[in-house]
Amino acid sequence: MAKIFSGVQPTSIPTLGNYLGAMRNFVTLQDGNECIYCIVDEHAITVPQDPKEIQKNIHNLAALYLAMGIDPKRSILFIQSEVPCHAQLGWIMQCVSYMGELERMTQFKDKSKGKQSVSAGLLTYPPLMAADILLYQTELVPVGADQKQHLELTRDLAERFNKKYGQVFTVPEPYIPPVGARIMSLAEPTKKMSKSDTNRKATIFTLDSEKEILKKIKSATTDDEASIRYDREAKPGVSNLLDIFSLCSGRSVDELVTAYQNKGYGEFKTDVAESVINVLSPIQERYHNLIESDELDEILDEGAEKAYAMAKKTLSESEQALGIGRRNRH
Ligand code: TYM
Repeated sequence: MAKIFSGVQPTSIPTLGNYLGAMRNFVTLQDGNECIYCIVDEHAITVPQDPKEIQKNIHNLAALYLAMGIDPKRSILFIQSEVPCHAQLGWIMQCVSYMGELERMTQFKDKSKGKQSVSAGLLTYPPLMAADILLYQTELVPVGADQKQHLELTRDLAERFNKKYGQVFTVPEPYIPPVGARIMSLAEPTKKMSKSDTNRKATIFTLDSEKEILKKIKSATTDDEASIRYDREAKPGVSNLLDIFSLCSGRSVDELVTAYQNKGYGEFKTDVAESVINVLSPIQERYHNLIESDELDEILDEGAEKAYAMAKKTLSESEQALGIGRRNRH
């Protein structure tokens, strides 16, 4: 049994990439593990957010977590800002981080590129993420490939702290799935599928209608070779669709390549879309039942309470190790 922690930003409706790369694994990892899942709203505000919009997205994300199969009887589900230990350990982690290593993070470089000014929070995003993970003595962190560098930094910070101040934190391992860790944009398949893509055809959102899904997949960029085979370099568009198809149908990529060898892109795309719809429509149905229910608030209240009890213990241990505050108050 392992301790699992992961989080998703409430910056929009989760994408098919979020689901296939991470959230789907959150669900399967519930079997036999102790899982803690978070709506990381403090990370979301590292870039400007509309208050009404983020409030709505937090609520939607909570419902989607449950609709995707997170079981509140087995897992803890909570909102980051409702457990103040995250910001508190986040500060400590900032003090353990070096400016140079934070400036070298690819996400920081990408998000700050070409901008006249960015928030200090964008730079200190990774120490807050480290705090999220380390507060729960997490062993395994299911994430997509884009979070690998942040996980490496988390490990470095934990090891650095433990070496200097004594053993406080478990050093976590990333859990990056062999297929699906990097679902690509449908419009530009050399770029990852992203919530913030300005091209609406690039990204499938988990609440898209059947019609939208079909339209987006039908217009996905492929190539003019007219053959369905897996080659990430030469055929990024077709390979991305094969990954999506495989994950949504449970059939291996090899099996799909054989089954579609004499078929055209049109038929292939229709079938990819159908497999995506088959996966997303039951989630959407559960989501619509959950979104209006009072159950959601109860689950989040209980989640925050349970998370706080665990997080407070680690926070106190780290403060004691650092020698801050009064010892006899803990
Ligand atoms: P976020 O909200 O950007 O994404 C949530 C999860 O989805 C994965 N993901 C993808 N996987 C495959 N293909 C894609 N195109 C794709 N896009 C996103 C992400 O890797 C992620 O696992 N920093 C995190 C949130 C976070 C967190 C944490 C995660 C904050 N604290 C602690 C784990 C542990 C993020 O921005 O995720």
